[in-house]
Amino acid sequence: MTDQVFCPNHIVVTGGAGFIGSNFVHWVVKNQPQVHVTVLDALTYAGNRENLAGIPDSRLAFVHGNICDEELVDRLVANTDAVVHFAAESHNDNSINDPTPFLRTNVQGTYVLLQACRKHDVRFHHISTDEVYGDLALDDPSRFTESTPYNPSSPYSSTKASSDMLVRAWVRTFGVRATISNCSNNYGPYQHVEKFIPRQITNLLCGIRPKLYGDGLNVRDWIHAEDHSSAVWCILTQGRIGETYLIGADGERSNIQVLRAILEAMGAGPDDFDWVRDRPGHDRRYAIDSTKLRTELGWQPKHTDFSQGLAQTIQWYREHQGWWRPVKEATEARYAATGQ
Ligand code: NAD
Ligand code: TYD
Repeated sequence: MTDQVFCPNHIVVTGGAGFIGSNFVHWVVKNQPQVHVTVLDALTYAGNRENLAGIPDSRLAFVHGNICDEELVDRLVANTDAVVHFAAESHNDNSINDPTPFLRTNVQGTYVLLQACRKHDVRFHHISTDEVYGDLALDDPSRFTESTPYNPSSPYSSTKASSDMLVRAWVRTFGVRATISNCSNNYGPYQHVEKFIPRQITNLLCGIRPKLYGDGLNVRDWIHAEDHSSAVWCILTQGRIGETYLIGADGERSNIQVLRAILEAMGAGPDDFDWVRDRPGHDRRYAIDSTKLRTELGWQPKHTDFSQGLAQTIQWYREHQGWWRPVKEATEARYAATGQ
């Protein structure tokens, strides 16, 4: 543990109406009763105001706006203790179809936030991904650490890598009080149906066959979104300024293993899916070594039983069809256009 503890009373959460951002907001409201949250979210196709339902106005202010809007960002940052920056274009397949919004939001948007934090001397925590490190071979025993060289493969991961570099430069040159976390693949409730796990669950609920890219052997290191949230709070309050922390929960699984677990949990046969066209540039394997976060800050994941977390996630999608059905058809139509 470090001696340094930062205790914000007010935080701005960008992207707080998205999958992980909203999970973090719920986590803070539940676990940190002294903190008031302002969410800044553009409500793109991935944002949904319903993700924040049930939080009282006394704890949450919602601002519908864009992180690229300098005046708005300046006003919000001037009145807060910290910015926790989740807002991003987050889906690799979309970045291959059209990289433009990824450059704007992930790079330009992060720059706008950094400038405001610099001007008002506000603490900044930047949410990033393990995908900035590129990929590992399936037979490579190593995992990513904080000193792994950056080597992003996709338009998505290269814009996230760019934003990480901006944060590092603003710390060193301008003394911005920032930290960065790079997390592995998240799963849990409220994840958009474009992503792997919810896509396959909702396909089965709609009578559509699940879709597996390439040979299905690509490995992802799964972590429950709530464990990501607790780690971000830990880094925001105890992390050393200028440092990067990797977040992971030892959850490596191949895509075909995950798909077969979903098929079994939902009563389908092990081969009840379609092999589809592979993603161009598809990263082979991600794996996180989170020793620094665990030893320096004492963080531990709680959701260590993947099959239990998956069963709860499946149950959530069964019970919240009104949340995802309105966007399912359009999402599948986009995939159909690329043969996936
Ligand atoms: P998401 O796509 O579900 O949500 C993104 C949110 O950002 C949405 O609410 C959207 O409306 C908002 N947004 C997008 N552009 C905006 C803009 N210009 N201004 C304001 N708001 C904007 O994403 P997610 O999966 O919750 O990911 C959140 C963050 O975590 C991202 O930075 C992502 O790179 C990172 N991350 C995600 C994963 C994962 O597995 N999903 C893993 C590691 C890191
Ligand atoms: P995804 O959820 O898009 O996350 P990421 O690209 O950030 O890892 O995909 C997870 C893995 O699942 C990735 O290897 C691609 C694969 N995948 C499929 O096999 N089928 C699908 O329908 C989707 C969306 C992804």
